[in-house]
Amino acid sequence: MDEVIINNISYNLEDLEKDCWLRLVNGAIKSRDPFHTPCVATIDSGEVNMRTVVLRKALPTLRELRFHTDTRSNKWKELAINNSISALFYDASSRVQLRVKGKAVLHFNNDITAEAWSKTALSSRRCYLTNQSPSSFSAIPTSGLTEKIEQENFTLEESEVGKQYFGIVAIQVASIEWLWLHHAGHRRAYFNYALDNYSWMIP
Ligand SMILES: Cc1cc2nc3c(=O)[nH]c(=O)nc-3n(C[C@H](O)[C@H](O)[C@H](O)COP(=O)(O)O)c2cc1C
Repeated sequence: MDEVIINNISYNLEDLEKDCWLRLVNGAIKSRDPFHTPCVATIDSGEVNMRTVVLRKALPTLRELRFHTDTRSNKWKELAINNSISALFYDASSRVQLRVKGKAVLHFNNDITAEAWSKTALSSRRCYLTNQSPSSFSAIPTSGLTEKIEQENFTLEESEVGKQYFGIVAIQVASIEWLWLHHAGHRRAYFNYALDNYSWMIP
């Protein structure tokens, strides 16, 4: 049997690959979607680092996923040295996990970041307005923001200073591994774009 039936819909490997991207696009658009906040892993001198990020864009034709971050952050520094990246998604209601692997392209001070920054709301711009770099150690528990910024008592113009630290990580997706949990037997599939090979796997 070269297909899987989910909610009475029959999927072959090609349909399933399209469905993965549909889920990713929905995840980027809908803030309450479980795919909105993947866990992203990078490598730091041979050690793995993971963190949650907000999926901002999923571009199926480019096979690209994007999230925003501070260019002073550790993840940015790690990716500049080693651009291997993996993102993990799980939707508990549909019981679908996606394991995405790829290479990161770092966007900074270009048209892509300028457009995204212009659409970034005041509240989100606060993330880029700390005086000290993210991950700096502190003697006190603090947001790193001045009270004025913390209270969102600043203008859009004043927030422009954050633009210098605004970066976008674009994940060029090399493969997606799909896993569907089902009481009558799980199903697993692998979409390898580099080798142009789609295959079922034993879960
Ligand atoms: C729900 C949620 C969403 C987050 N979204 C982002 C994000 O989009 N970009 C980001 O840089 N950090 C985001 N963070 C914070 C990261 O998980 C992480 O703590 C921070 O970026 C420092 O990571 P680093 O030291 O590996 O650079 C988010 C955290 C949570 C809990």
